[in-house]
Amino acid sequence: MNLNETKARDQWGSKIGFILAAAGSAVGLGNIWKFPYMAGTNGGGAFVLLYFGLLIIVGFTLMMAELTIGRHTQLSAVSAFKKIKSKWAWVGAIGVLAGFLILSFYSIIGGWVIRYLISALSGSFNTTDAASLGGIFEGFIMSPVQPLLYHAIFMALTLGIVLGGVKGGIEKYSKILMPGLFIMMIVIMIRSLTLPGAMEGVKFMLVPDFSKINGTVFLAALGQVFFSLSLGMGTMITYGSYLSKDENLVNSSFQIPLLDTAIALVAGLAVLPAVFAFGFDPAGGPGLLFVTLPAVFASMPLGSIFGIVFFLLVLFAALTSSISMLEVVVAYVVDEKGWDRKKASFVFGAIIFLVGIPSSLGLGVWSDFTLIKDLDILDSVSFIAENVLLPLGGMFLCIFIGWVWGLDKAFKEVTNDGKIKFGLMHVWGFLVKYIAPAAIFIVFVQGILALIRG
Ligand code: PHE
Repeated sequence: MNLNETKARDQWGSKIGFILAAAGSAVGLGNIWKFPYMAGTNGGGAFVLLYFGLLIIVGFTLMMAELTIGRHTQLSAVSAFKKIKSKWAWVGAIGVLAGFLILSFYSIIGGWVIRYLISALSGSFNTTDAASLGGIFEGFIMSPVQPLLYHAIFMALTLGIVLGGVKGGIEKYSKILMPGLFIMMIVIMIRSLTLPGAMEGVKFMLVPDFSKINGTVFLAALGQVFFSLSLGMGTMITYGSYLSKDENLVNSSFQIPLLDTAIALVAGLAVLPAVFAFGFDPAGGPGLLFVTLPAVFASMPLGSIFGIVFFLLVLFAALTSSISMLEVVVAYVVDEKGWDRKKASFVFGAIIFLVGIPSSLGLGVWSDFTLIKDLDILDSVSFIAENVLLPLGGMFLCIFIGWVWGLDKAFKEVTNDGKIKFGLMHVWGFLVKYIAPAAIFIVFVQGILALIRG
């Protein structure tokens, strides 16, 4: 039994506690692993430009929207919708499903990080040769058993933290480890940027080639905004529910996306210049981080130590995200189905682990099997979750606030009953009610049509 259920709702001990937890959820593999490779496969600058556009129109808007609903209801995702209008609980349920699916493959990538941490510890980052680094990576992810063992370890760590009730403790560590990660990435970025040939990569990432923009790239950028900011699945509703009524929602809604984006950009500028300097393929896909950075470490003084610290910090960042996903699922079965917290964590931790197995096998022994078009299992699950469920969840959340709950009530909550000055309040209202849902809808439909047409 969780004592917190019988007490008044827990609140963040300090403002920084909340920011760190929410930023901990947002900053993770999405920024460090996914952003560079998505930029790489989707035309570089074109993707980054769309990412920024959608971040401004959809990202900030939804961050504020989710935190507002959460703080207003003081409830987790599904229950929050229920409390305002019970007919809308299914929007929360879309989020729970998304969290379930995302964690199933997130944990596999988290496992890769553990594997690379171990390689770093055993001092095996000593080559900058693209072919051999690529070979090591492929050999590992394609093998049937090893990645599953690491997947199990990552899931066990996530479960352990959620079960052990040590989340608060983990959040305290964030205070040191998150800035640590940031500084570490800046150092790696500087090394990358000073490699011969690095400027090609900077150009690739920052100068958009407009001919690369199409429905597929648009939807990929939209999915990345949702994934990277932990939006569309109720995570930020849940975190907002722990906020006290005199906290400034407006500032948080800007700070979290800015921090998240800063880390993604630094990660991009750490990886992509090195990709060009060492002759890797920018469109190399999910392996990009894992093949490129070992080459960077090999070309740095004390590189092996950097490798160890880097993968350790990435693992920590991944865990502060994965616990927030498991929380969404667990909170749902506890709040809505009346399950015991321990049982819910165990059962769903195990189920999510099992559901993740095909995604891993699909990279090797089951690679002939495709679910959607020519996408392997992992990419298909990630497409459904990030490019379908999260955007739809976000779109319905906007419609819910703008048209069901009502902007007046949202404005009251955002400004703490008029106590906080928020100059852009009506701009935000307009974005929530009209622009963001319309933008999501158009990008979503274009992306799906592009997929169907092939
Ligand atoms: N935002 C996290 C990351 O970038 C992933 C995440 C998505 C976490 C959705 C919670 C909810 O790694």
